[in-house]
Amino acid sequence: MSPLSSSFAQTNTGSPTTADLFAEHVMSTYGRYPLTLVRGQGCRVWDEQGREYLDFVAGIATCTLGHAHPVWIQALTEQAQQLHHVSNLYYTPPQAQLAQWLTRHSCADKVFFCNSGAEANEGAIKLARKYAHTVRGIQEPVILTAHGSFHGRTLATVTATGQPKYQKDFAPLVPGFDYIPYNDIEGTEAVLNRWGERVCAVLLEPLQGEGGVLPGDPTYFQWWRRVCNERGILLMLDEVQVGMGRTGRLWGYCHLGVEPDIFTLAKGLAGGIPIGALLAKDFCAVFQPGDHASTFGGNPLACAVGLAVCRTLMLDSLIWNAQQTGAYLRQGLSRLAEQFPRLIEQVRGWGLIQGLVMRIPAAEVVKAAMEMGLLLVPAGLQVVRFVPPLIVTPAEIDQALALLGSALERLAASH
Ligand SMILES: Cc1ncc(COP(=O)(O)O)c(C=O)c1O
Repeated sequence: MSPLSSSFAQTNTGSPTTADLFAEHVMSTYGRYPLTLVRGQGCRVWDEQGREYLDFVAGIATCTLGHAHPVWIQALTEQAQQLHHVSNLYYTPPQAQLAQWLTRHSCADKVFFCNSGAEANEGAIKLARKYAHTVRGIQEPVILTAHGSFHGRTLATVTATGQPKYQKDFAPLVPGFDYIPYNDIEGTEAVLNRWGERVCAVLLEPLQGEGGVLPGDPTYFQWWRRVCNERGILLMLDEVQVGMGRTGRLWGYCHLGVEPDIFTLAKGLAGGIPIGALLAKDFCAVFQPGDHASTFGGNPLACAVGLAVCRTLMLDSLIWNAQQTGAYLRQGLSRLAEQFPRLIEQVRGWGLIQGLVMRIPAAEVVKAAMEMGLLLVPAGLQVVRFVPPLIVTPAEIDQALALLGSALERLAASH
Protein backbone atom coordinates (compact mmCIF):
# COMPACT_ATOMS: atom_id res chain seq x y z
CA MET A 1 0.00 0.00 0.00
CA SER A 2 1.41 3.40 -0.86
CA PRO A 3 1.94 5.70 2.15
CA LEU A 4 -0.92 7.95 1.10
CA SER A 5 -3.56 5.51 0.04
CA SER A 6 -5.23 5.06 3.40
CA SER A 7 -4.19 8.27 5.08
CA PHE A 8 -7.69 9.69 4.91
CA ALA A 9 -9.61 6.46 5.27
CA GLN A 10 -12.77 6.78 7.31
CA THR A 11 -12.24 5.33 10.77
CA ASN A 12 -14.49 2.35 11.35
CA THR A 13 -15.72 3.89 14.61
CA GLY A 14 -17.84 6.19 12.45
CA SER A 15 -16.31 9.32 13.98
CA PRO A 16 -15.29 11.98 11.43
CA THR A 17 -11.73 12.04 10.14
CA THR A 18 -9.58 15.14 10.43
CA ALA A 19 -10.32 15.81 6.75
CA ASP A 20 -14.05 15.59 7.44
CA LEU A 21 -13.73 18.16 10.23
CA PHE A 22 -11.76 20.46 7.92
CA ALA A 23 -14.40 20.12 5.21
CA GLU A 24 -17.12 21.03 7.66
CA HIS A 25 -15.48 23.73 9.77
CA VAL A 26 -12.37 25.24 8.13
CA MET A 27 -12.57 27.81 5.34
CA SER A 28 -11.50 26.28 2.11
CA THR A 29 -8.56 28.56 1.29
CA TYR A 30 -5.92 25.84 0.78
CA GLY A 31 -5.61 22.98 -1.69
CA ARG A 32 -4.37 20.52 0.92
CA TYR A 33 -2.64 17.21 0.24
CA PRO A 34 -4.46 14.13 1.52
CA LEU A 35 -2.12 13.77 4.47
CA THR A 36 -2.71 14.38 8.17
CA LEU A 37 0.55 14.97 10.03
CA VAL A 38 0.73 14.40 13.75
CA ARG A 39 4.40 14.26 14.81
CA GLY A 40 7.85 15.46 13.77
CA GLN A 41 11.45 14.80 14.73
CA GLY A 42 14.45 16.35 13.01
CA CYS A 43 13.87 16.19 9.22
CA ARG A 44 11.08 13.61 9.52
CA VAL A 45 7.34 13.79 10.12
CA TRP A 46 4.74 11.07 10.67
CA ASP A 47 1.12 10.84 9.66
CA GLU A 48 -1.72 9.55 11.79
CA GLN A 49 -1.12 6.00 10.57
CA GLY A 50 2.47 6.21 11.75
CA ARG A 51 3.95 6.47 8.25
CA GLU A 52 7.22 8.31 8.04
CA TYR A 53 8.03 11.11 5.56
CA LEU A 54 11.27 12.90 4.90
CA ASP A 55 10.33 16.56 5.24
CA PHE A 56 11.98 18.74 2.57
CA VAL A 57 9.26 21.36 2.97
CA ALA A 58 9.99 22.30 6.61
CA GLY A 59 6.74 24.22 7.01
CA ILE A 60 7.60 26.03 3.73
CA ALA A 61 11.15 27.11 4.54
CA THR A 62 10.32 27.78 8.15
CA CYS A 63 11.44 25.00 10.52
CA THR A 64 15.09 26.08 10.56
CA LEU A 65 16.04 23.58 13.27
CA GLY A 66 13.71 20.87 12.02
CA HIS A 67 11.07 19.39 14.28
CA ALA A 68 11.32 19.04 18.07
CA HIS A 69 14.90 20.33 18.30
CA PRO A 70 15.96 20.16 21.98
CA VAL A 71 17.27 23.76 22.07
CA TRP A 72 14.08 25.05 20.48
CA ILE A 73 11.90 23.10 22.94
CA GLN A 74 13.97 24.32 25.88
CA ALA A 75 13.73 27.98 24.82
CA LEU A 76 9.99 27.65 24.29
CA THR A 77 9.20 25.89 27.56
CA GLU A 78 11.51 28.00 29.71
CA GLN A 79 10.07 31.25 28.37
CA ALA A 80 6.49 29.90 28.61
CA GLN A 81 7.09 29.24 32.30
CA GLN A 82 8.59 32.71 32.82
CA LEU A 83 6.48 35.19 30.80
CA HIS A 84 4.84 34.67 27.44
CA HIS A 85 2.97 37.88 26.56
CA VAL A 86 2.43 41.31 28.09
CA SER A 87 2.03 43.58 25.00
CA ASN A 88 4.29 46.40 23.84
CA LEU A 89 3.17 48.70 26.63
CA TYR A 90 6.25 47.42 28.48
CA TYR A 91 9.87 46.47 27.89
CA THR A 92 10.67 42.74 27.76
CA PRO A 93 14.24 41.33 27.66
CA PRO A 94 13.84 38.74 24.83
CA GLN A 95 12.65 41.42 22.35
CA ALA A 96 15.63 43.62 23.19
CA GLN A 97 18.05 40.69 22.89
CA LEU A 98 16.68 39.45 19.58
CA ALA A 99 16.75 42.98 18.13
CA GLN A 100 20.35 43.31 19.33
CA TRP A 101 21.33 40.00 17.70
CA LEU A 102 19.66 40.92 14.41
CA THR A 103 21.18 44.37 14.18
CA ARG A 104 24.65 43.12 15.20
CA HIS A 105 24.53 40.52 12.44
CA SER A 106 23.03 42.63 9.64
CA CYS A 107 23.27 46.05 8.00
CA ALA A 108 20.17 47.29 9.89
CA ASP A 109 20.06 49.53 12.95
CA LYS A 110 16.48 49.13 14.19
CA VAL A 111 13.86 46.37 14.28
CA PHE A 112 10.06 46.30 14.48
CA PHE A 113 8.58 42.89 15.38
CA CYS A 114 5.32 41.47 14.09
CA ASN A 115 3.91 38.01 13.37
CA SER A 116 4.26 37.07 9.70
CA GLY A 117 5.94 37.86 6.44
CA ALA A 118 2.97 39.74 5.07
CA GLU A 119 2.81 41.86 8.20
CA ALA A 120 6.53 42.62 7.99
CA ASN A 121 6.15 43.70 4.35
CA GLU A 122 3.05 45.71 5.21
CA GLY A 123 5.22 47.53 7.78
CA ALA A 124 7.92 48.11 5.18
CA ILE A 125 5.36 49.61 2.80
CA LYS A 126 4.09 51.96 5.52
CA LEU A 127 7.62 52.91 6.53
CA ALA A 128 8.54 53.71 2.91
CA ARG A 129 5.42 55.85 2.52
CA LYS A 130 6.06 57.71 5.76
CA TYR A 131 9.66 58.34 4.65
CA ALA A 132 8.39 59.55 1.28
CA HIS A 133 5.90 61.97 2.85
CA THR A 134 7.99 63.30 5.73
CA VAL A 135 11.54 63.25 4.39
CA ARG A 136 11.21 63.48 0.61
CA GLY A 137 7.99 65.48 0.40
CA ILE A 138 6.39 63.11 -2.13
CA GLN A 139 2.59 63.52 -2.07
CA GLU A 140 1.67 60.37 -4.00
CA PRO A 141 4.51 57.89 -3.54
CA VAL A 142 4.91 54.84 -5.78
CA ILE A 143 6.58 51.58 -4.74
CA LEU A 144 7.96 49.33 -7.47
CA THR A 145 7.89 45.54 -7.13
CA ALA A 146 8.82 42.77 -9.53
CA HIS A 147 6.75 40.61 -11.83
CA GLY A 148 6.75 37.07 -10.43
CA SER A 149 7.30 38.30 -6.87
CA PHE A 150 5.46 37.18 -3.76
CA HIS A 151 5.10 39.44 -0.72
CA GLY A 152 2.00 38.17 1.14
CA ARG A 153 -1.79 38.04 1.18
CA THR A 154 -2.90 41.22 2.95
CA LEU A 155 -4.38 43.79 0.61
CA ALA A 156 -1.23 45.91 0.32
CA THR A 157 1.12 42.93 0.06
CA VAL A 158 -1.07 41.13 -2.44
CA THR A 159 -0.95 44.35 -4.48
CA ALA A 160 2.84 44.36 -4.09
CA THR A 161 2.91 40.73 -5.25
CA GLY A 162 3.54 40.93 -8.99
CA GLN A 163 1.36 37.94 -9.93
CA PRO A 164 -2.20 38.61 -11.14
CA LYS A 165 -3.37 35.13 -10.03
CA TYR A 166 -3.14 36.24 -6.39
CA GLN A 167 -4.96 39.53 -7.07
CA LYS A 168 -7.97 38.49 -9.10
CA ASP A 169 -11.28 39.01 -7.31
CA PHE A 170 -9.78 41.41 -4.75
CA ALA A 171 -10.10 44.70 -6.61
CA PRO A 172 -9.84 47.53 -5.95
CA LEU A 173 -6.20 46.96 -5.08
CA VAL A 174 -4.11 49.44 -3.10
CA PRO A 175 -2.91 52.40 -5.19
CA GLY A 176 0.73 53.42 -5.39
CA PHE A 177 2.35 50.26 -6.84
CA ASP A 178 3.79 49.38 -10.22
CA TYR A 179 5.67 46.36 -11.55
CA ILE A 180 9.11 45.91 -13.04
CA PRO A 181 10.75 42.96 -14.81
CA TYR A 182 13.01 41.07 -12.34
CA ASN A 183 16.72 41.03 -13.25
CA ASP A 184 16.07 43.25 -16.31
CA ILE A 185 17.72 46.68 -16.10
CA GLU A 186 16.39 48.04 -19.39
CA GLY A 187 12.80 47.03 -18.69
CA THR A 188 13.05 48.41 -15.17
CA GLU A 189 14.44 51.75 -16.37
CA ALA A 190 11.38 52.25 -18.59
CA VAL A 191 9.00 51.88 -15.61
CA LEU A 192 11.22 53.95 -13.34
CA ASN A 193 11.30 56.80 -15.83
CA ARG A 194 7.52 56.68 -16.26
CA TRP A 195 7.03 57.50 -12.55
CA GLY A 196 10.00 59.85 -12.13
CA GLU A 197 10.19 61.58 -8.75
CA ARG A 198 7.18 59.71 -7.38
CA VAL A 199 9.14 56.49 -6.87
CA CYS A 200 9.93 56.25 -3.17
CA ALA A 201 11.00 52.61 -2.85
CA VAL A 202 11.60 49.34 -4.62
CA LEU A 203 10.72 46.05 -2.90
CA LEU A 204 12.50 42.94 -4.23
CA GLU A 205 13.20 39.37 -3.15
CA PRO A 206 16.94 38.53 -3.30
CA LEU A 207 15.78 35.21 -4.80
CA GLN A 208 12.18 34.83 -5.91
CA GLY A 209 10.88 31.91 -3.88
CA GLU A 210 7.20 31.40 -4.68
CA GLY A 211 7.87 32.77 -8.16
CA GLY A 212 9.97 29.69 -9.03
CA VAL A 213 13.25 29.70 -7.02
CA LEU A 214 14.77 32.32 -9.29
CA PRO A 215 18.01 33.86 -7.94
CA GLY A 216 18.58 37.59 -8.22
CA ASP A 217 21.31 38.80 -10.56
CA PRO A 218 24.04 40.71 -8.64
CA THR A 219 24.46 43.11 -11.58
CA TYR A 220 20.78 44.01 -11.42
CA PHE A 221 20.76 44.54 -7.65
CA GLN A 222 23.99 46.57 -7.74
CA TRP A 223 22.49 48.73 -10.49
CA TRP A 224 19.43 49.27 -8.25
CA ARG A 225 21.69 50.19 -5.31
CA ARG A 226 23.34 52.92 -7.42
CA VAL A 227 19.98 54.22 -8.65
CA CYS A 228 18.61 54.30 -5.11
CA ASN A 229 21.66 56.21 -3.86
CA GLU A 230 21.41 58.74 -6.69
CA ARG A 231 17.65 59.32 -6.43
CA GLY A 232 16.93 58.87 -2.71
CA ILE A 233 14.84 55.75 -3.38
CA LEU A 234 14.71 53.14 -0.60
CA LEU A 235 16.04 49.69 -1.50
CA MET A 236 13.80 47.24 0.38
CA LEU A 237 14.49 43.50 0.29
CA ASP A 238 12.02 40.80 1.23
CA GLU A 239 14.12 38.18 3.02
CA VAL A 240 11.07 36.39 4.42
CA GLN A 241 11.87 33.12 2.61
CA VAL A 242 15.63 33.34 2.05
CA GLY A 243 16.86 35.08 5.21
CA MET A 244 18.19 33.31 8.33
CA GLY A 245 20.92 31.26 6.68
CA ARG A 246 18.81 29.21 4.26
CA THR A 247 20.89 30.22 1.23
CA GLY A 248 24.22 29.35 2.84
CA ARG A 249 24.75 33.02 3.76
CA LEU A 250 22.96 34.63 6.69
CA TRP A 251 21.02 37.02 4.41
CA GLY A 252 20.07 36.67 0.77
CA TYR A 253 21.56 40.09 0.08
CA CYS A 254 25.04 38.69 0.90
CA HIS A 255 24.87 36.89 -2.49
CA LEU A 256 24.20 40.13 -4.33
CA GLY A 257 26.89 42.53 -3.15
CA VAL A 258 24.38 45.13 -1.90
CA GLU A 259 23.07 46.32 1.44
CA PRO A 260 19.36 47.15 1.61
CA ASP A 261 18.01 50.18 3.47
CA ILE A 262 15.10 48.11 4.75
CA PHE A 263 14.53 44.35 4.84
CA THR A 264 11.93 41.94 6.18
CA LEU A 265 12.06 38.54 7.87
CA ALA A 266 9.59 35.95 9.08
CA LYS A 267 9.44 32.21 8.26
CA GLY A 268 12.74 30.81 9.62
CA LEU A 269 13.35 33.45 12.28
CA ALA A 270 11.83 31.49 15.17
CA GLY A 271 11.89 28.10 13.45
CA GLY A 272 8.10 27.78 13.23
CA ILE A 273 6.73 29.98 16.01
CA PRO A 274 4.89 32.90 14.34
CA ILE A 275 7.14 35.96 14.12
CA GLY A 276 7.99 38.62 11.58
CA ALA A 277 10.47 41.48 11.60
CA LEU A 278 10.95 44.73 9.74
CA LEU A 279 14.54 45.97 9.85
CA ALA A 280 15.80 49.38 8.77
CA LYS A 281 18.84 51.59 8.78
CA ASP A 282 18.61 54.54 11.17
CA PHE A 283 18.20 57.16 8.44
CA CYS A 284 14.90 55.67 7.29
CA ALA A 285 13.57 54.24 10.58
CA VAL A 286 11.13 57.16 10.76
CA PHE A 287 8.26 55.57 12.70
CA GLN A 288 7.24 57.50 15.80
CA PRO A 289 5.17 56.22 18.75
CA GLY A 290 1.64 55.58 17.49
CA ASP A 291 2.61 55.12 13.82
CA HIS A 292 2.62 51.33 13.78
CA ALA A 293 1.88 48.52 16.21
CA SER A 294 1.07 44.87 16.71
CA THR A 295 -0.48 43.33 19.83
CA PHE A 296 1.43 40.05 19.58
CA GLY A 297 4.50 41.49 17.82
CA GLY A 298 7.77 40.84 19.61
CA ASN A 299 6.23 38.97 22.51
CA PRO A 300 8.70 37.28 24.88
CA LEU A 301 7.79 33.77 23.75
CA ALA A 302 8.40 34.30 20.03
CA CYS A 303 11.51 36.40 20.65
CA ALA A 304 13.08 33.92 23.10
CA VAL A 305 12.59 31.14 20.56
CA GLY A 306 13.91 33.41 17.78
CA LEU A 307 17.01 34.16 19.83
CA ALA A 308 17.57 30.42 20.42
CA VAL A 309 17.30 29.82 16.66
CA CYS A 310 19.76 32.64 15.90
CA ARG A 311 22.28 31.41 18.44
CA THR A 312 21.97 27.81 17.27
CA LEU A 313 22.59 28.90 13.68
CA MET A 314 26.00 30.13 14.82
CA LEU A 315 26.87 27.58 17.53
CA ASP A 316 26.02 24.58 15.36
CA SER A 317 27.46 26.10 12.14
CA LEU A 318 24.12 25.70 10.41
CA ILE A 319 24.79 28.36 7.78
CA TRP A 320 27.93 26.46 6.81
CA ASN A 321 25.82 23.28 6.80
CA ALA A 322 23.29 24.96 4.50
CA GLN A 323 26.13 25.84 2.13
CA GLN A 324 27.69 22.34 2.16
CA THR A 325 24.52 20.26 2.11
CA GLY A 326 22.98 22.71 -0.33
CA ALA A 327 25.86 22.11 -2.76
CA TYR A 328 25.51 18.36 -2.20
CA LEU A 329 21.76 18.50 -2.88
CA ARG A 330 22.41 20.58 -5.99
CA GLN A 331 24.89 17.99 -7.32
CA GLY A 332 22.39 15.20 -6.73
CA LEU A 333 19.59 17.13 -8.43
CA SER A 334 21.88 17.88 -11.39
CA ARG A 335 22.56 14.15 -11.73
CA LEU A 336 18.81 13.51 -11.79
CA ALA A 337 18.43 16.27 -14.40
CA GLU A 338 20.96 14.42 -16.59
CA GLN A 339 19.20 11.12 -15.99
CA PHE A 340 15.72 12.49 -16.78
CA PRO A 341 16.21 15.17 -19.47
CA ARG A 342 12.66 14.69 -20.75
CA LEU A 343 11.28 15.59 -17.31
CA ILE A 344 13.75 18.13 -15.91
CA GLU A 345 14.83 21.32 -17.61
CA GLN A 346 17.09 23.00 -15.06
CA VAL A 347 18.28 23.09 -11.43
CA ARG A 348 18.61 26.48 -9.74
CA GLY A 349 18.83 28.04 -6.31
CA TRP A 350 21.18 28.96 -3.48
CA GLY A 351 22.18 26.74 -0.54
CA LEU A 352 19.16 24.95 0.90
CA ILE A 353 16.60 26.57 -1.37
CA GLN A 354 16.84 24.66 -4.64
CA GLY A 355 14.36 24.36 -7.46
CA LEU A 356 13.91 21.75 -10.17
CA VAL A 357 12.44 23.41 -13.23
CA MET A 358 10.26 20.66 -14.71
CA ARG A 359 8.98 19.99 -18.22
CA ILE A 360 5.89 18.45 -16.63
CA PRO A 361 3.62 20.00 -13.97
CA ALA A 362 5.46 20.34 -10.63
CA ALA A 363 2.33 19.11 -8.85
CA GLU A 364 2.75 15.67 -10.45
CA VAL A 365 6.30 15.38 -9.11
CA VAL A 366 5.28 16.52 -5.64
CA LYS A 367 2.47 13.95 -5.58
CA ALA A 368 4.70 11.11 -6.81
CA ALA A 369 7.44 12.01 -4.28
CA MET A 370 4.89 12.12 -1.48
CA GLU A 371 3.73 8.64 -2.38
CA MET A 372 7.35 7.51 -2.01
CA GLY A 373 7.63 9.19 1.41
CA LEU A 374 9.29 12.51 0.49
CA LEU A 375 7.57 15.86 1.11
CA LEU A 376 8.28 18.60 -1.45
CA VAL A 377 6.44 21.80 -2.39
CA PRO A 378 5.87 23.41 -5.80
CA ALA A 379 6.97 26.99 -6.47
CA GLY A 380 4.63 27.98 -9.27
CA LEU A 381 3.40 25.53 -11.89
CA GLN A 382 6.71 24.21 -13.23
CA VAL A 383 9.16 24.29 -10.32
CA VAL A 384 9.59 21.77 -7.51
CA ARG A 385 11.12 23.38 -4.43
CA PHE A 386 13.54 21.80 -1.91
CA VAL A 387 13.71 23.69 1.41
CA PRO A 388 14.68 21.17 4.11
CA PRO A 389 15.57 22.19 7.66
CA LEU A 390 19.08 23.66 8.00
CA ILE A 391 20.08 20.66 10.16
CA VAL A 392 19.68 18.26 7.20
CA THR A 393 22.51 15.71 6.80
CA PRO A 394 24.14 14.32 3.62
CA ALA A 395 22.59 10.92 4.47
CA GLU A 396 19.11 12.49 4.52
CA ILE A 397 19.83 14.19 1.21
CA ASP A 398 20.93 10.82 -0.25
CA GLN A 399 17.67 9.32 0.94
CA ALA A 400 15.62 12.20 -0.50
CA LEU A 401 17.40 11.88 -3.86
CA ALA A 402 16.77 8.13 -3.92
CA LEU A 403 13.05 8.62 -3.18
CA LEU A 404 12.82 11.37 -5.79
CA GLY A 405 14.67 9.18 -8.31
CA SER A 406 12.07 6.43 -7.83
CA ALA A 407 9.25 8.96 -8.22
CA LEU A 408 10.81 10.32 -11.43
CA GLU A 409 11.24 6.80 -12.84
CA ARG A 410 7.56 6.20 -12.34
CA LEU A 411 6.69 9.52 -13.97
CA ALA A 412 9.09 8.88 -16.87
CA ALA A 413 7.26 5.65 -17.60
CA SER A 414 3.91 7.44 -17.83
CA HIS A 415 5.07 10.48 -19.85
C1 LIG B 1 9.18 36.23 -0.01
C2 LIG B 1 7.95 36.13 0.82
N1 LIG B 1 7.42 37.25 1.35
C3 LIG B 1 6.31 37.22 2.11
C4 LIG B 1 5.66 36.04 2.36
C5 LIG B 1 4.42 36.03 3.19
O1 LIG B 1 4.72 35.50 4.45
P1 LIG B 1 3.53 35.04 5.42
O2 LIG B 1 2.88 33.86 4.79
O3 LIG B 1 4.24 34.71 6.71
O4 LIG B 1 2.62 36.19 5.56
C6 LIG B 1 6.17 34.84 1.84
C7 LIG B 1 5.48 33.57 2.06
O5 LIG B 1 5.67 32.61 1.36
C8 LIG B 1 7.35 34.90 1.05
O6 LIG B 1 7.87 33.80 0.50
